[in-house]
Amino acid sequence: MRKYRVRGGNRICGALGIGGAKNAALPILAAVLLSEGESVIHNCPNIADIDSSIEILRHLGCRVDFVQNTLTVNNPGPTTTELPTELVSKMRSSILFMGALLGRCREVTIASPGGCQIGSRPIDLHLKGLRKMGAVINEENGLMYAKAEALKGTQIYLKEVSVGATENLILAAVLAQGETTLLNAAREPEIVDLARFLKSMGAVIHGAGTSTVRITGVKKLRGTTHRVMPDRIVAGTFLLAAAMTLGDLTLTGINPHDIKAITANLRAMGCTIKEKPASVRLRAPRQLIAIPHFITEAHPGFPTDMQPTFVAALSTAKGTSVVEERVFESRAAHATELIRMGANIVVTSDERVIVIKGRPHLHGATVHSKDLRGGAALILAGLAAQAETLVLDNGYIERGYESLPENLTKIGGDVILQP
Ligand code: EPZ
Repeated sequence: MRKYRVRGGNRICGALGIGGAKNAALPILAAVLLSEGESVIHNCPNIADIDSSIEILRHLGCRVDFVQNTLTVNNPGPTTTELPTELVSKMRSSILFMGALLGRCREVTIASPGGCQIGSRPIDLHLKGLRKMGAVINEENGLMYAKAEALKGTQIYLKEVSVGATENLILAAVLAQGETTLLNAAREPEIVDLARFLKSMGAVIHGAGTSTVRITGVKKLRGTTHRVMPDRIVAGTFLLAAAMTLGDLTLTGINPHDIKAITANLRAMGCTIKEKPASVRLRAPRQLIAIPHFITEAHPGFPTDMQPTFVAALSTAKGTSVVEERVFESRAAHATELIRMGANIVVTSDERVIVIKGRPHLHGATVHSKDLRGGAALILAGLAAQAETLVLDNGYIERGYESLPENLTKIGGDVILQP
């Protein structure tokens, strides 16, 4: 159990550089399996989910060095196609190794990834698309055995916009025979970054970042060098920390275009935002203003991963806010913990609508993080609360935030990870 001790009352001020995006680096690490030889990946975040991916790559026979956010991977060709269940069950995004191993080796054995606190997180769209490309997938005792004589390009309509399914099918299609067209594909910037990486390996991909992605299979891919895009969710998290504490924060190494939906909501809450090509500056108002209503949706809409931290910020805003979580079916666990800190929040029984009546202050408490972004929300609430908050966390926060206490301390926060 990790214990984050947060003392409220300090303003978050100054400047901070933003590191690489977890949700771009994870599919890129799976994509490494598609080529032989060496790939070098810069600006890779040093977080627990990356460590898990590195363990999977080593299990598959790759040599991996990870020094100061640069990953060097030598892939002589997978020595096995069986993914270790204990690693797969730790991290849902390991499902992306399924598409990569099928694409490279035409077979894979992988445990069905668990859901987690934010919803059931099915993978029916992944399996339907892979089967349509020619994979035979049998599920038995919680394991999936997938095999394909050949993967053939085809047209696949995704009935739900799914980031993971879009990425998995791209990974399976780049070495397939012929052309694959993904319709109703997800448009997240992390998918564009994955496509950038694959194209630098020699893949032929058009339309990444739009809802129609066309992949023309090639025979082989080669190792490459790539710099991971900045993490837009980490950037949004720090901007909110400043917004909640009367702060003034400049983030560097971030593309303002990637966080348009986030900064639009921050402006609606009364923040002043100044954008430059690779930096964003936020100045907080004397008191945040509620947002009457907003929804979470696929990119370019407001990102679901910013919902928990915005709920924390709106807990101290003037007025009532209504947030509708439209992507995941149970992403409101942070509400009960925020209520323990004095927040006035009501969640509908289906956990899809969160009503927040802002209050001038929250007070410190001992609270439990239930998932990655919910944990970050509790730390932010602690920064804005009076006195001291203890966030008890089962390793969720470090899965997605590199050195969060150190970075918050650098910009005025009083946060330590207790030994
Ligand atoms: C990715 O998860 C991200 N994770 C999530 O970030 C993010 O919240 C999510 O996309 C949405 O943006 C990574 O990139 C590693 P989805 P993913 O498939 O791919 C339904 C974080 O905090 N669905 O886009 O799992 C699903 O239930 C994490 O960094 C199906 O029905 O999300 C959900 O309602 C949390 N069938 C919706 O689609 C499927 O086969 C969107 O899920 C797949 C998904």
